[in-house]
Amino acid sequence: MVKPKIDFTDALENLLARVWQVSGDHLDSGFIRKTGEAVIDVRTIYRNKGEKLKGEKIKRYSQSIDFSQRRYRAGYIASFGERHAYLTYHHFKKIENVDQAVIPEPQKGELTVTVIGAGAALELFGLCYYYNENKSRIRKLKINFIERTSDWQSDRDSMLEMIIKKAFLKLRIIKKDITINLAQDGIMPLSREYDSLAKSDIILIYNVLNEITFYHTKMVWKNIEYILKICDKRVLILLVEPSAKYTISRIQPVIDQLSRCAKTILKSDEEEFVFNSGPLRIECSDSNSLNFRLFTKSN
Ligand SMILES: C[S@@+](CC[C@H](N)C(=O)[O-])C[C@H]1O[C@@H](n2cnc3c(N)ncnc32)[C@H](O)[C@@H]1O
Repeated sequence: MVKPKIDFTDALENLLARVWQVSGDHLDSGFIRKTGEAVIDVRTIYRNKGEKLKGEKIKRYSQSIDFSQRRYRAGYIASFGERHAYLTYHHFKKIENVDQAVIPEPQKGELTVTVIGAGAALELFGLCYYYNENKSRIRKLKINFIERTSDWQSDRDSMLEMIIKKAFLKLRIIKKDITINLAQDGIMPLSREYDSLAKSDIILIYNVLNEITFYHTKMVWKNIEYILKICDKRVLILLVEPSAKYTISRIQPVIDQLSRCAKTILKSDEEEFVFNSGPLRIECSDSNSLNFRLFTKSN
């Protein structure tokens, strides 16, 4: 197996520096502290998400994260960025073991991916790594980013520039940013992007359904169903949601709808991934690395 051409954790720090708008590529101790505080807040919101909270807690921990604030975007990227980036790779490997034929093959080196609830879209890293690990199977990646918060757009552009393009030098990227709220009727804005969406080979739904309350699941499905209906070929859907205790009611209705219209290749109720081996392993021991400075207790 070939190791990535970049040090991912370093690149993630460069991205965080952009998100915080600091000059230079690295976070000084002040920004490490601010990022660490944001990480705690983001993780606390996740732990409490969907729970019926009382009194003070309601004020502190909202039901979804306000990603228009850069501290939450930074906290999210620092908390989950590396893991989500590597998770897609492991996800593809698991599907490959079950049925390799369902994994779309790029046509003349071209693949179209639609990312629903894109955020910084770090999950693209694992996808590109899976395809281009041994040879450059994807040479042109077309991406549709579907996202509610337009504030993510520049972070996503930075992610493409500082991570994807540096790690996969031969890759050409063509992207579309589609700003819609999945909890509202998005058919008009989605239909304006008909041609790009219809070409989707893969749809990624990573860590988004848990953000949208049960009350809106019908509308979320209406939007997703529209995309599925216009796809002009077979499409592989990868869905990953965290197993937060109280959010299953937000996720299950969409999974039920999907299983009515699609063949389930692989289903796992709950699974723990540990990134401690293989080419995509998370390194925490180097005292200069971002992970060490952010997550080691003495810091
Ligand atoms: C937690 S982030 C996940 C980002 C990325 N997919 C990942 O796995 O790292 C969830 C994203 O979904 C977006 N989102 C939440 N509710 C949404 C909605 N109703 N419509 C569109 N996007 C939404 C959020 O703004 C956020 O960027």
